[in-house]
Amino acid sequence: MLKKIMSDYSRKNPYHARLKSHRLLTEGCDTKATHHYEIDLGDSGMPYEPGDSLAVFSKNDPDLVEEVLAAAGFSGEEIVTDTAKAEVPIRQALTDSYTITQPSKKFLAAMAEKAPSAEFVPLLDKEKKTELADYLWGREVIDFLLAHPEVNFEAQEFVSTLGRHNVRLYSIASSLSAVPGEVHLTVADVTYESHGRARKGVCSTFLSERVTDTTELPCFITPGKGFRLPPAEEETPIIMIGPGTGVAPFRAFVQERQATHAKGKAWLFFGEIHEETCYFYEEEWSAALADGSLTQITTAFSRDQPEKIYVHHRMLEHAPALWEWLQAGAIVYVCGDAKRMAVDVDSALHQIAREQGGMSEEDATDYMAQLKKDKRYRKDVY
Ligand SMILES: Cc1cc2nc3c(=O)[nH]c(=O)nc-3n(C[C@H](O)[C@H](O)[C@H](O)COP(=O)(O)OP(=O)(O)OC[C@H]3O[C@@H](n4cnc5c(N)ncnc54)[C@H](O)[C@@H]3O)c2cc1C
Ligand SMILES: NC(=O)c1ccc[n+]([C@@H]2O[C@H](COP(=O)([O-])OP(=O)(O)OC[C@H]3O[C@@H](n4cnc5c(N)ncnc54)[C@H](OP(=O)(O)O)[C@@H]3O)[C@@H](O)[C@H]2O)c1
Repeated sequence: MLKKIMSDYSRKNPYHARLKSHRLLTEGCDTKATHHYEIDLGDSGMPYEPGDSLAVFSKNDPDLVEEVLAAAGFSGEEIVTDTAKAEVPIRQALTDSYTITQPSKKFLAAMAEKAPSAEFVPLLDKEKKTELADYLWGREVIDFLLAHPEVNFEAQEFVSTLGRHNVRLYSIASSLSAVPGEVHLTVADVTYESHGRARKGVCSTFLSERVTDTTELPCFITPGKGFRLPPAEEETPIIMIGPGTGVAPFRAFVQERQATHAKGKAWLFFGEIHEETCYFYEEEWSAALADGSLTQITTAFSRDQPEKIYVHHRMLEHAPALWEWLQAGAIVYVCGDAKRMAVDVDSALHQIAREQGGMSEEDATDYMAQLKKDKRYRKDVY
């Protein structure tokens, strides 16, 4: 029986944690920055299980807050009533309580009313949803304000057009059995350039650029719907597919398996861009292989050779063994990128069922559906 987790901490009553330590997992890599965070849960007693996520409240980038204030013509001292009904200077409200990156529908409607000839206005038509989504991709509130200096808002009116600032979820990368009173995360900085501006993901860069050991980090646990290990005393094998930050919950799984001396076999598929700079937690996997909490690790470093090699390519290379594990009742866990990786992994499993199981297209589809129904194919993708 799985233990039901109860915690007093929630979205309305988060625990104010502190960062204990932090290290870059991609040292020497110039194309991405992924970090390992160790967060101190103090005496909160906040319980979690491997497979859960941590919901983190962040603050907006102060430089962007200043740019938005300047572009909207505010000094920053104007008093507004924020989302918690507190009266605060607009600078504070924009820092803590509102989404000042992706524009809300209400913000676009208000801009359209004040600048009716703006180029995006025809895209607000209900029939133009796709065109609007394309237009908005890579555009933020600041772009609209800078493009329309003629538009004026009252301070309260402005904040009321913005969406609420929301938490971000991170798969927990640790087990309380291994690190009591701590929670670990594996987080990739979201940074990109669009329409001539460098952009930063709100929470990922808040963590990497502005959180110190004195910063309060409000957070709470969100349970990992069914993303759970089988009981340690069972022989059920597990197959974990987690490229990039998708490996986070599997670090928690392996720590838990070490602590509970789990009986079943465990196979990890990990992928990143370069082995030399991005093989996250390599020494930990070696130790886990040595103590048996991990049976096998298969890696795919996508940019270490001219052609791309991804985790699903490796799955196909190991198809006979994977099929054997599946026949032995293995549970397949997939974590990480939803748009591309999870889709390709799904196709690879389908192909393995067809080729190794001698199934028709239809039978393989039924087989995959049955795996899901039996809770032997579990995804935590984003
Ligand atoms: C259950 C769950 C678990 C997760 N676990 C992890 C984890 O372990 N590690 C991890 O790193 N993340 C994880 N995530 C993702 C995480 O929650 C955040 O979404 C991520 O960190 C980005 O948040 P942010 O605030 O930094 O970026 P945001 O400010 O939310 O910015 C992201 C947005 O920027 C825009 N954008 C991004 N790239 C581009 C581009 N190239 N061009 C134009 N626009 C772009 C898109 O609108 C995108 O939605 C998880 C998500 C879920 C739901
Ligand atoms: N929408 C986007 O364009 C985009 C791009 C990057 C990341 N992201 C998001 O950013 C977050 C963090 O990403 P991350 O750093 O964890 O890792 P990631 O960007 O998902 O990359 C991890 C590894 O997966 C590879 N990969 C790319 N496509 C794949 C596929 N179809 N199947 C299997 N592997 C594939 C990557 O290779 P290559 O990079 O060499 O192709 C890389 O080696 C995730 O939320 C992810 O969804 C989105």
